[in-house]
Amino acid sequence: HEEFTKVKNIATIELGRYEIETWYFSPFPPEYNDSLKLYFCEFCLNFMKRKEQLQRHMRKCDLKHPPGDEIYRSGTLSMFEVDGKKNKVYGRNLCYLAKLFLDHKTLYYDVDLFLFYVLCECDDRGCHMVGYFSKEKHSEESYNLACILTLPPYQRKGYGKFLIAFSYELSKKEGKVGTPERPLSDLGLLSYRGYWTRVLLDILKKHKGNISIKELSDMTAIKAEDILTTLQSLELIQYRKGQHVICADPKVLDRHLKAAGRGGLEVDVSKLIWTPYK
Ligand code: COA
Ligand code: NA
Repeated sequence: HEEFTKVKNIATIELGRYEIETWYFSPFPPEYNDSLKLYFCEFCLNFMKRKEQLQRHMRKCDLKHPPGDEIYRSGTLSMFEVDGKKNKVYGRNLCYLAKLFLDHKTLYYDVDLFLFYVLCECDDRGCHMVGYFSKEKHSEESYNLACILTLPPYQRKGYGKFLIAFSYELSKKEGKVGTPERPLSDLGLLSYRGYWTRVLLDILKKHKGNISIKELSDMTAIKAEDILTTLQSLELIQYRKGQHVICADPKVLDRHLKAAGRGGLEVDVSKLIWTPYK
């Protein structure tokens, strides 16, 4: 289907209060491919070709939040964990939706193998999805995140950094290090670089004396390779007597921290009620 997959099919979607222009092709079932616009139920993520169908659907649909367990709530922000095996249709719908904004990711039809962490802003009308990330239930490569998306109307507000931070908090609870699945998109890489830089440099600033990459990894759940490449790109690593040594001049750290931008929304770990998937 090479030549077919290159053509963007759906130009816009309606989702909740928003009409959103799409970025990339997504392999919706063939009967949807003659539509320029699709109408999504913002709660169950079912999609329809006509506005009237959506209106009829909204009168029947009981959902006011993603299916699955609410595992985090702080203020108006909630995170839901959706098991792709228990909610196959939702998982598949989410993948179709996400692919509209993801260039190179292959769409996983095998949603059974994934957990979806759906971040919502909640009000009296319900919990409105702002973004999500997916995670393999069992990863041999220590991936703690497969796909990440902030819906365009919500981008550049710190939600991406929140989702990334959240993925590492889950890894800490599992007692494992994690890394995002590759390849990362340009925006994905920017977001990760910013997150890694801020987390690592905050520690280096506060820490007295030497600290190793292994220690940093244990504290942050960031994989050692990602720590090394981050610190190398900031020119904070020297190679002495066959070992990597971190050189952290406070002035240099401050300069890099400033360049790394805003910290974004904090994950309040005390509000995370979660046990690892077994
Ligand atoms: N231009 C320049 N820098 C950008 C950017 C843009 N359009 N979008 C994000 N960044 C960088 C900035 O450094 C930003 O920090 P800052 O706002 O403090 O400067 C940082 O990334 C993260 O910003 P944040 O607001 O936390 O992220 P987000 O909610 O916009 O989400 C993505 C980031 C990657 C999840 C989002 O861009 C997205 O969903 N993209 C499409 C899907 C995708 O590419 N996913 C990754 C696949 S691996
Ligand atoms: Na939206």
